[in-house]
Amino acid sequence: MVSNRETRVARAYHDQTAHSPASVRTSTHSLDWDVKPFPFKVYTDLPPLALPREIDPLAIDTLTALGAGTAGAERMTLADLATVLYYAAGVTKKRAYPGGGEVLFRAAPSTGALYQTEVYVAAGQVEGLEAGLYHFCPGDFALRRLRAGDVRAELARAAADEAPARRAVTIVLTAIYWRNTWKYQARGYRHLFWDSGTLLAHLLAVGGALGLGPRLYTGFVDADLNRLLGVDAEQEAALELVTLGPEGTRAPPVATVDDSRHPYMPLSSSQVDYPLLREIHVASMLETPDDVRAWRAGGSGTRVSEGAPHALVTLPAARAASGRGLGETIQRRGSTRQFGHVPLSAVELATALWAATRSLDADVPAGLVDLYLIVNAVDGVEPGAYGYRASEHALELLKAGSYRNESSYLCLEQPLGGDAAAVIYFLAPLAPILSAFGNRGYRLANLEAGSAGGRAYLAAYAQGFGASGLTFYDAAVVEFFSPHAAGKDAIFVVALGRTAGTGRVTIGTTPIRPRRSSV
Ligand SMILES: Cc1cc2nc3c(=O)[nH]c(=O)nc-3n(C[C@H](O)[C@H](O)[C@H](O)COP(=O)(O)O)c2cc1C
Repeated sequence: MVSNRETRVARAYHDQTAHSPASVRTSTHSLDWDVKPFPFKVYTDLPPLALPREIDPLAIDTLTALGAGTAGAERMTLADLATVLYYAAGVTKKRAYPGGGEVLFRAAPSTGALYQTEVYVAAGQVEGLEAGLYHFCPGDFALRRLRAGDVRAELARAAADEAPARRAVTIVLTAIYWRNTWKYQARGYRHLFWDSGTLLAHLLAVGGALGLGPRLYTGFVDADLNRLLGVDAEQEAALELVTLGPEGTRAPPVATVDDSRHPYMPLSSSQVDYPLLREIHVASMLETPDDVRAWRAGGSGTRVSEGAPHALVTLPAARAASGRGLGETIQRRGSTRQFGHVPLSAVELATALWAATRSLDADVPAGLVDLYLIVNAVDGVEPGAYGYRASEHALELLKAGSYRNESSYLCLEQPLGGDAAAVIYFLAPLAPILSAFGNRGYRLANLEAGSAGGRAYLAAYAQGFGASGLTFYDAAVVEFFSPHAAGKDAIFVVALGRTAGTGRVTIGTTPIRPRRSSV
């Protein structure tokens, strides 16, 4: 097995899955609708256990919830669990399309509405729910029990941390690769982390709002966790864990974890394998609890220096409250399909940036990705390209000017990137990240950008404007923000602005020609 330290694997994966005008134009991939994967995992031998449908409206202000996760709850109930699952991964709206198609949209945004993220629950001390390992199906809003009995001690062992054995619940997020690779091929590996990241943004905000003190774990023994879940890592694998709820007595040790797997409905009649994706995933695995501890210790203190600033533009302080409750924000959220050219105010943008860069309670430090912006229309902020300096909550002007066409081009020639009032480009210095965290650092960079993007989405909808995640031309993004961004890599993009009926940017010509091609 390739070790996590052999970081050429992550580097090669990133380069080989980069988008460029040439790669997009020469791609022969087309969508095979006959094998579009079913969006729900349905176990065929396990009865559903219906979750309570009275969901807490979560009236707490969205910005308060994003600002500070609390941990005051003395108990955790099945109703709390249902609330967390609904707002993180539930079906929040249904849209029918001409011709009979229907999409069940989920609480958190997800690339292509493909929803490859699956949710499992290891319950220990939840009032109204027997201890056990469950799978959550958003389709019928039910749990199905995969293993009876308390498995939290096994989770704690895999995560090399005592806490999951004491916390009421651990949620495990996995991804079924084929649901995403059906459309996005090997680049879909990046999406596993962007999309579990947006889901985590919801999970952590809701968990905090309920006083359940959510804590994220990104380090664990992959094979042990996958075996516990009964998933085949060639198809589906564990990505992250989140502990929730008060600490109780330590769960008893689990005698043996057998290799049992429950059958589930096939997603489609056939599927395509993307070895590149499996290779990077295996090459970023940790093998023993000692490896997990060493990995965490090796990466602590990895914070990217912001360097000396020039031409700082101070932003107004973020709003303390938006006036919209977290539950309502999530229920009403939906990616903006067309932005108008109406400006945002400086405080609206400042609040979204503040929300995106809130630190999370996690097993490894955040701060791996840097935020760059193209500002098209923000009152009081000159149009141009900027870096966001989170520590000073200020923008660093890189170049002034109108870059709507360029921004649209950078976002894979999508008008959304040019019509938006402001576009956040997440970039990361992959070399030091991989050197500190190995290949698994690649997971971390994409995850951090995804969860930051998810929080920007929530802050936008809370304030009454919109957002959309976007994909991009990798090398062209770095080129655009260079020399400041030289040596970094493009990780993810989120556009912000007001919805309108008519977008105005049209890409007729190529406004930027990248100097290097990106395979
Ligand atoms: C990580 C991420 C990347 C996305 N990339 C694009 C994109 O490139 N173009 C686009 O039009 N929408 C993009 N979206 C929006 C998704 O298509 C949208 O989230 C999905 O269809 C679900 O719809 P909803 O967000 O309205 O619930 C992206 C969303 C996410 C979370």
